Amino acid sequence: MAQAQFQTALADAAARVENSLDTLLPSGNRIADSMRYAVLNGGKRLRAFLVIEGALLFDVPAPQANAAAAAIECIHAYSLVHDDLPAMDNDDLRRGLPTVHVKWDDATAVLAGDALQAMAFEILADINAPNVLIAALAKAAGGAGMVLGQGMDIAAETAQTPLNLAQISTLQSLKTGALIRWSAGAGPMLAGADPAPLFEYADALGRAFQIRDDILDIEGDPEKTGKRLRKDEAAGKATFVSLLGMDAAKSRAAELVEQAQAALGSYSARADNLRQAAQYTITRAT
Ligand code: IPE
Ligand code: IPE
Ligand code: MG
Ligand code: MG
Ligand code: MG
Repeated sequence: MAQAQFQTALADAAARVENSLDTLLPSGNRIADSMRYAVLNGGKRLRAFLVIEGALLFDVPAPQANAAAAAIECIHAYSLVHDDLPAMDNDDLRRGLPTVHVKWDDATAVLAGDALQAMAFEILADINAPNVLIAALAKAAGGAGMVLGQGMDIAAETAQTPLNLAQISTLQSLKTGALIRWSAGAGPMLAGADPAPLFEYADALGRAFQIRDDILDIEGDPEKTGKRLRKDEAAGKATFVSLLGMDAAKSRAAELVEQAQAALGSYSARADNLRQAAQYTITRAT
């Protein structure tokens, strides 16, 4: 029941953000086409969902929530386009379709990512979003956030000694956690309220989410994930599964879900979709 309600909320968030993105994104040239391709073709829209549900808790008007959701999906899509490049993970399939550099070329993929990143900030500036929200996105996405984590992920592939647990945790909190944290905190930041409880929720959820991604690389169904699987080990990726093994990684993810749910303690039943999202994070097949 609660899970069904969550699935409906996730689908609603996806519809809302896709509608906004379709309106906001440019069209009519090669870069615009590749941007649209990267953002509009599928994706679970978990980050958009987190923005929208966090905004609901603080009575943020829907147009503002939609814009913040569109902004984070632009940054996320850019991170995937660059993550898939030959110089990074070298993937040819994303969301069940050829990656941007395969469909066009490397230069187009680099530029589409660049443009999507700028687009996110344009969207937030156009709604006169609070400085705190814009600055937080710059930090979450940039060289002290997602990009730093991606750098650590690539460096780990050729590291002389395998990363330890604390190092993997930091890497994942940055490469994946930072954007998820911003997403959950966007509602309170838009409302001028305290984002701390939602940050705490998202920190745990983001880590569980990446552990599940690493588990799916090993035991997932490529038909469902829409991306190539069983690549991380050969690439030398540092993950909880590579360090601790499958069972321990699953236990760790389950603990993190409990932590995420505990962080929502002070919120009413209005936070139930967020509670369910934590569970979904580690049971998802896509
Ligand atoms: C994939 O993110 C990359 C990671 C951070 C693990 P998602 O699993 O959210 O990808 P989409 O948006 O649903 O395609
Ligand atoms: C990606 O992590 C994190 C990003 C910031 C894009 P992965 O490299 O594991 O994501 P997938 O498996 O390609 O989606
Ligand atoms: Mg990667
Ligand atoms: Mg990858
Ligand atoms: Mg992965």
